[in-house]
Amino acid sequence: MAEMERDRELENAARTMRTAPVAAGVAPDEPISELEPPSAFPGATKELIELNAELAKLPKGGTLAAKVAERGGLDVAVVGATGAVGRQMIDCLAERNFPLTRLRVLGSARTAGQSLPWPGNASLAAGDLTLAEGTAEALEGVDLILGAAANDIAMELYPRAVREGAIVVDNSSAFRLVPEVPLVVPEINAADVAESHGIIANPNCATIICLVAVWPLVQKAGLRSMVVSTYQAASGAGRRGMEELVAQEAALALGEPVPAPSAFAYQLALNLIPQIGGFDGRGYTSEEMKLQNEGRKIMHLPKLRVGCTCVRVPVMRSHAESVTLRLERPLTPSEARELLRDAPGVRLVDEPAAEPPARRYPMPLDTSDQDLVYVGRIREDLAAEDPSRGLELWCCGDQIRKGAASNTVQIAELLLR
Ligand SMILES: NC(=O)c1ccc[n+]([C@@H]2O[C@H](COP(=O)([O-])OP(=O)(O)OC[C@H]3O[C@@H](n4cnc5c(N)ncnc54)[C@H](OP(=O)(O)O)[C@@H]3O)[C@@H](O)[C@H]2O)c1
Repeated sequence: MAEMERDRELENAARTMRTAPVAAGVAPDEPISELEPPSAFPGATKELIELNAELAKLPKGGTLAAKVAERGGLDVAVVGATGAVGRQMIDCLAERNFPLTRLRVLGSARTAGQSLPWPGNASLAAGDLTLAEGTAEALEGVDLILGAAANDIAMELYPRAVREGAIVVDNSSAFRLVPEVPLVVPEINAADVAESHGIIANPNCATIICLVAVWPLVQKAGLRSMVVSTYQAASGAGRRGMEELVAQEAALALGEPVPAPSAFAYQLALNLIPQIGGFDGRGYTSEEMKLQNEGRKIMHLPKLRVGCTCVRVPVMRSHAESVTLRLERPLTPSEARELLRDAPGVRLVDEPAAEPPARRYPMPLDTSDQDLVYVGRIREDLAAEDPSRGLELWCCGDQIRKGAASNTVQIAELLLR
């Protein structure tokens, strides 16, 4: 257990569970409808059920367009601004020329008072931003919060900010399955932002990358089930995950003792760790269940079944995924390639027959620090009972950008319309 406690992701899972589940012992995706019929959703806690009821009473479909028209920009706060996702969010706001009148950067008490560089954009000049501690007071009067901190911080800060008139787009998993909170991938369900009562959730990073890749095929051929194996980069565990992998690799290169792991449960360098998040009663991890639970909500496919294995790999950035699709209707690999060639958010990289270097398939080094999900290795699934309705593919995308920061800023852009 001491080892488990070292894993920051397990700490996060524990934080999520701090408030007792409605039915102790109910696995996260099992229906709890007999116990709480009106508010049943996976991972429901008393606190989340109350929040859901409260959100339902708030007006729906708020946008930020009027404020931008009136003031030329927005007062925006990035919570968790020093982390892997928060820093990338700041860069995305600059790159995408997001309209700003003020940019607040919030972190923990540890970094309060330090400064972060703002590269500048057309609405807000470049300069240094001073970090404030993430408190309710630091968010007073803000128009838009981009959340890049852990679940407990999200629960503590954002509901109050929404009551006071802010809109929140959050990257933690705290609110993702709450019914009154839309869970949005703009390429798939942009229209769902109109259902928001002030909080919109950014999905899990591996889920976003998988669904951007498969959605064009799902629209054409329907989807019954998926089997997904993920190969997730160290940076998925945040800044500490990256630092730990770099330190372990440096020690190995110098022939020095490898420092004890703390961000992960075990040494990641030269290794694979088949656990991301805590285990449920059936042996699935919380990260693995996100593919099914969040996939159902985003694609509006409540009966979708997903079998998933999530693995942490010694890659710095960009998650890769092997995906097996069981489709409702036949779809050939060449039809799938044609659909993906023009699909939003996707780059088709599928040249297995060519000689190197023209032989191409998606790889993390090629997909890092950009926003597209690369898809390749598209082929018939030889294990399918009806191979015409079974496809295999491989996809890869930068989970700090499209899996988190860029997707969040894209959602915020939907609110400008
Ligand atoms: N990394 C990914 O690929 C990824 C992808 C999708 C979603 N997410 C989610 O995005 C969130 C951030 O992840 P990350 O990887 O960026 O984590 P990270 O690198 O560990 O950063 C965590 C951030 O939270 C801040 N923080 C800690 N306590 C705070 C407080 N009381 N008030 C305000 N901020 C506080 C930290 O500030 P200090 O530096 O001051 O401690 C830091 O900026 C998490 O919910 C994560 O699950 C991450």
